Amino acid sequence: MNQRFLRLFFILGGLMILLPAKSMADTPFPTIREPEGEGVKCVQPEEEMRRNHMDYILHQRDKTVHEGIRTETYSLAKCIDCHVEPDESGKIAKHDDKEHFCNSCHEYTSVQIDCFECHADRPQKYIKRDSKKNALQQQLNKTLSARDTDGGNL
Ligand code: HEC
Ligand code: HEC
Ligand code: HEC
Repeated sequence: MNQRFLRLFFILGGLMILLPAKSMADTPFPTIREPEGEGVKCVQPEEEMRRNHMDYILHQRDKTVHEGIRTETYSLAKCIDCHVEPDESGKIAKHDDKEHFCNSCHEYTSVQIDCFECHADRPQKYIKRDSKKNALQQQLNKTLSARDTDGGNL
């Protein structure tokens, strides 16, 4: 009886050691989309970015810890321009989708950031295209409704 208990104890102990590794294996590691293309490199080596990217982009740390860093190099907009792209179906992940480059890891590690309440979560070129399309659409609707009320005067 005592020995069985002891055995169970060891098995459980062993499981507890194994479990973290096992649950890591079960939870699919986030797919991090990395920009492709010959010679396309991040603003710092990958290891450095993986660990310390926040130091380069956080407002307050920019000024203090990394005095002298040119914000152009570490512009958040630039990170997004390079790291976020539409998928095969043309859909661009939003900042709270797990497919979004920044959120891919953050969701996995339960990190929450508020950056995208103000900053765009998609590349500039797609914002311009979208708003242009919207403006055109609005213009079209206005024209059509004006035509309706004017009895086809347009
Ligand atoms: C309340 C709005 C707001 C929030 C939230 C915010 N920012 Fe900003 N950020 C700004 C404004 C305004 C500027 C200055 C205008 C500019 O240069 O685009 C700026 C500039 C920057 C810049 C330098 C310019 C650029 O395009 O990169 C970086 C880097 C940056 N923010 C990073 C961050 C990060 C990282 C977070 C989240 C931790 C964050 N910001 C959250 C408003 C905000
Ligand atoms: C010119 C394109 C480009 C720009 C701009 C860029 N990156 Fe990268 N980033 C890459 C590439 C490519 C990799 C893969 C590693 C490599 O080859 O350098 C990468 C890797 C990373 C990684 C590691 C991902 C992983 O798999 O662990 C992080 C985090 C990261 N970048 C964050 C940023 C941030 C934050 C910015 C803005 C300050 C930024 N990147 C700007 C191209 C870019
Ligand atoms: C390779 C995975 C990975 C990627 C990709 C990644 N992050 Fe992070 N990020 C982390 C981890 C992990 C932390 C928490 C680190 C810590 O607490 O020490 C973090 C923390 C941060 C923080 C600091 C949060 C805080 O409250 O201190 C900011 C800001 C941030 N990330 C911004 C970004 C932005 C913007 C992108 C996309 C351009 C991005 N990250 C992409 C893994 C990632």
